[in-house]
Amino acid sequence: MSKIAVIGSGTMGNGIAHVFAQNGSKVNLVDISSDALKKGLATISKNLDRMVAKEKIDAETKRATLDNISTHTSLTDGIQGIDVVIEAATENLEVKLDIFRNLDENCGPNTILATNTSSISITQIAAVTGRPDKVIGMHFMNPVPIMPLIEIIRGYSTSDATTDSIMKLSEKLGKTPVEVNDYPGFVANRILMPMINEAIETLFNGVAGVREIDTVMKLGMAHPMGPLELADFIGLDVCLSILNVMYDGFKNPKYAPSPLLINMVTAGKLGVKSGEGFYSYSESRKAEKV
Ligand code: NAI
Repeated sequence: MSKIAVIGSGTMGNGIAHVFAQNGSKVNLVDISSDALKKGLATISKNLDRMVAKEKIDAETKRATLDNISTHTSLTDGIQGIDVVIEAATENLEVKLDIFRNLDENCGPNTILATNTSSISITQIAAVTGRPDKVIGMHFMNPVPIMPLIEIIRGYSTSDATTDSIMKLSEKLGKTPVEVNDYPGFVANRILMPMINEAIETLFNGVAGVREIDTVMKLGMAHPMGPLELADFIGLDVCLSILNVMYDGFKNPKYAPSPLLINMVTAGKLGVKSGEGFYSYSESRKAEKV
């Protein structure tokens, strides 16, 4: 397996480091915050414990997985001798452009630079590097150790060789990669976010209540989670920002975020992470009707 660096040790970064390390890759996990690195490792360890308890892996696999991960607060230290970098830092354009300029300057010429961004243009990120053919989107789904899909996003200049090696690498992780082109929302969010937005509009228009809307979609459409519960899980601020990217990118009013969504984000009701969104959340994250 390739030697991997994962930039960002938050929700997604620690999951990405986990799956690579469990599949035999040496992983350098990099974050500007040593606290985030500690928390990331603790999450990986807890998730591995859960897998041991369910007899999906043994204790030796847990130990080997953790041994494959080293942590770094310096980007330049963390990317020495790396074949593939996967950036999973905060979803902020300037943060990502800075990281990619830095990666391009300090990584070997053959290193592939992937990003887990959910909404920023791969082509725009690639354009700040001198290797746009080696920049690609690798959009993992949350929670990474469980979800089988990786959306592989080709920027305007991504080469066939880069795409092939990232498709193969994803398969080695036991995941199913799907190749898509770089347009706002890619495929996953282009289809998911308008559905979530329509569910919010349905609530806003008084057609039905929160639980009723979610029940229709769960029991009627066989969705494992209702759209409003899913929006709470993703984060209402994240949903709003992805809708805005599609609204700006396509200039099409069908992507205009619901006024209710905008109001809730402005009021700090962000879903599970703030303790309240369409549902309120106790410590155990159990969904209750607001
Ligand atoms: P998060 O907020 O949990 O973690 C981000 C981490 O990046 C933090 O630990 C922060 O300290 C670190 N960071 C910030 N600037 C950095 C820098 N310059 N160098 C190194 N580390 C830095 O964010 P989350 O949710 O893990 O998202 C990461 C990326 O994954 C984003 O691009 C997001 O759009 C994408 N994504 C998120 C999903 C989700 O469900 N949370 C799903 C799919 C993609």
